[in-house]
Amino acid sequence: MITAPEITIPAELAKLVEYFDLPLPDRERLREIVHDTFTRLSKTYTLKLQLDATGVDALSANLRGLTEEEAERAISQALVTRYALCPQTVTDVLEAKKQILRHSGMLEFVEAPDKMVSVGGLENLKNWLNQRHGAWEDAAREFGLEPPRGMIILGVQGCGKSLCARAVAGEWKLPLVKFDTSAVYDKYIGETEKRIRKVFQVAEGLAPCVLWIDELEKVFAGSGPDSASADAGVSSRLLASFLSWMQDRKAPVFVAATCNNVNVLPPELIRKGRFDELFFVDLPNEGERKQIFSIQLAKRKRDPRDFDLEQVAVAAKGYSGAEIEAAVQDALYSAYSQKTSLTTQLLIEALGHTIPLSTTRAEEITALREWARSRAVPAAAC
Ligand SMILES: Nc1ncnc2c1ncn2[C@@H]1O[C@H](COP(=O)(O)OP(=O)(O)OP(=O)(O)O)[C@@H](O)[C@H]1O
Ligand SMILES: [Mg+2]
Repeated sequence: MITAPEITIPAELAKLVEYFDLPLPDRERLREIVHDTFTRLSKTYTLKLQLDATGVDALSANLRGLTEEEAERAISQALVTRYALCPQTVTDVLEAKKQILRHSGMLEFVEAPDKMVSVGGLENLKNWLNQRHGAWEDAAREFGLEPPRGMIILGVQGCGKSLCARAVAGEWKLPLVKFDTSAVYDKYIGETEKRIRKVFQVAEGLAPCVLWIDELEKVFAGSGPDSASADAGVSSRLLASFLSWMQDRKAPVFVAATCNNVNVLPPELIRKGRFDELFFVDLPNEGERKQIFSIQLAKRKRDPRDFDLEQVAVAAKGYSGAEIEAAVQDALYSAYSQKTSLTTQLLIEALGHTIPLSTTRAEEITALREWARSRAVPAAAC
């Protein structure tokens, strides 16, 4: 019997070996760890116990996704900061957990304050998500539902793909962990496969949660058979592990992936059974532009009713959500420097200052639309 955090068995022996992956501690075990750590540290320090059973429960929930050792470290740290096990400890360990995950490399905890109401338009996508809300709970399982696997949001730049991924977690009140795709090849070449297994394990430990993979194509680009990239081998093995995990995992981890460039996206990824749906986000239509203006104005403490939204929405034809946001920001600067209040006129002028991507990259967008027409579901209501 060999125990090790990571192990490489020579090929000749591989057939004779049975592998057991120890799971991360569950909530019950984490409760014990909280208890044991408190008892152990009480011998050295005078610690106050100001947390009831519900509090300890919440504390254990916040520790999920960590190994036993990491969980113990997070609690110890929190305990010696306040010399107490108290309601603040529950949030203190969350902070410690964020740090630990950050150091572990590929995963990052992201705050998700946005809700679906901060997303303008995309009604189809919103309805789809709405239907799946809570589908990971016991009641849903008893009803015969399987927890949703995830979605790919594909589309034009600046039209709210990343925003949607964040908003799902906020709306569903689930923790959001972001898969840091830039770290995949940079730092850990050679260790990539080990690390990705750890990513899946941590994500399952955190379940139910949303795993956000921004710019999916960057993770798996170069895994195609004709890729000339030096990482091609690693990249295709990475893709293989990801696909099998997507298919086999039992824990409710909702994968929200975004993608800009379909040309380098391996076709296996979009086959049915991996992700539940592939959504295409186009440039916002007039009604959606109105909503986006309204959201962006309200975000900046302006009452949207003070503006002629019809008129600005018409003037913003061809602009993306991000470009609309930039125009609102730009108009605010003008108003501030001219010491006037923000007006419809200033918004329209601000729009005139930029040429939207839909003009400068028209061909690219047309090609993307063409690709998506037969393969993806429109995120906006038709
Ligand atoms: N539909 C929308 N409703 C409200 N705000 C939007 C919308 N689309 C974009 N925005 C604004 O633009 C910002 C940038 O959008 P986001 O980062 O989500 O775009 P993206 O599609 O991920 O772009 P990229 O392809 O460049 O990654 C958002 O944070 C938001 O403020
Ligand atoms: Mg994005």
